[in-house]
Amino acid sequence: MTMTAMKEKSITRSTGHTVEAELKKSILVVGSDGLIGNALVSKLEASGMNIMGTTRRKKSVSAKNPFLDLEEDNSSWEPGAAPRAAVICAGVTSLKKCQERRAETEKVNIRGICSLINTLAALDSYVVFISSDKVFDGAKPFPAPDDPVSPATEYGRQKAVVERLISGLGARICVIRFTKVVGPADNLFSGWRKALNRGEVIHPFLDMYISPIPLSFAVSVIERVLDLQPVGVVHASGARDVTYEEAARIGAASLGADPSLIQPVEAKTFPGFEHQTGKKTALNISGLKDRMGLTPPDIEWTIENIFSSPGTLDIDP
Ligand SMILES: NC(=O)c1ccc[n+]([C@@H]2O[C@H](COP(=O)([O-])OP(=O)(O)OC[C@H]3O[C@@H](n4cnc5c(N)ncnc54)[C@H](OP(=O)(O)O)[C@@H]3O)[C@@H](O)[C@H]2O)c1
Repeated sequence: MTMTAMKEKSITRSTGHTVEAELKKSILVVGSDGLIGNALVSKLEASGMNIMGTTRRKKSVSAKNPFLDLEEDNSSWEPGAAPRAAVICAGVTSLKKCQERRAETEKVNIRGICSLINTLAALDSYVVFISSDKVFDGAKPFPAPDDPVSPATEYGRQKAVVERLISGLGARICVIRFTKVVGPADNLFSGWRKALNRGEVIHPFLDMYISPIPLSFAVSVIERVLDLQPVGVVHASGARDVTYEEAARIGAASLGADPSLIQPVEAKTFPGFEHQTGKKTALNISGLKDRMGLTPPDIEWTIENIFSSPGTLDIDP
């Protein structure tokens, strides 16, 4: 069956509305200024879809990009006409901020987001909530979508609470858990790239793991979810974990930099990182491959491009 046929079948099955009427409705991207939201809006618009965003930046407000601040009471906020689907990309994403300002970040990441999802579910919109591998503590390798959650950070706890609350709504909702999503302007990696190119030493953690996926792949996963409209949890991660040290070594080799410039350090000696050391992040992605037909690029490809050709992280591999 073609993608369009699957989409049409999925729409008529789930809503009972005519395909034509449904496809005319917009897709709402909540948090259109962020890394993922911005890339998603660009990609969906380029494919000719009717896209609405939300922003909390006064200068970016327009008819297609209404104001929405999740810190404020949004129980009476409405997106205009009911969107066909909504992707929730907004939220406080700093682990440090969530840890240090629990009450303030809960207001956005739990109350604001749940209230918005309630509104969207009541409008019968299909909702995609972007969650994270951080709902797991990293003790068990490759956790599956239905494994019990076990967050070890406040950020992960907030994601897990939202997942639990929205699963009880009985609505058409998909949770996508991503591992680290890397775009062309990632601060850490572009800093390392510049330092290595100048012949300067860098100090990657030898005891902390990542399983990065390119921004373009994360956007492709969301697009496929919007097409197929699964209900439940979808995992999207790299195929394995690497330490930051291994990532730096792969990157240095791709730049032809002197390997002696990599001088690893232990994260556990740095305040704020002590609880994150030794935790694996890669997820079980068999469902992504088998049911959605998507395979992430090799970890080596992703890391080499982070260092030597970051612009490609924006483009489909
Ligand atoms: N990037 C990753 O590696 C990764 C991995 C796993 C899961 N995720 C999840 O994916 C989602 C998108 O991540 P991202 O990397 O695109 O994050 P991001 O770049 O930090 O963007 C977050 C967006 O949320 C908006 N926002 C923050 N507070 C808000 C509030 N009170 N009201 C309304 N909007 C608010 C921000 O607005 P401003 O631009 O105005 O600040 C920004 O547009 C997040 O839920 C994140 O937890 C990301």
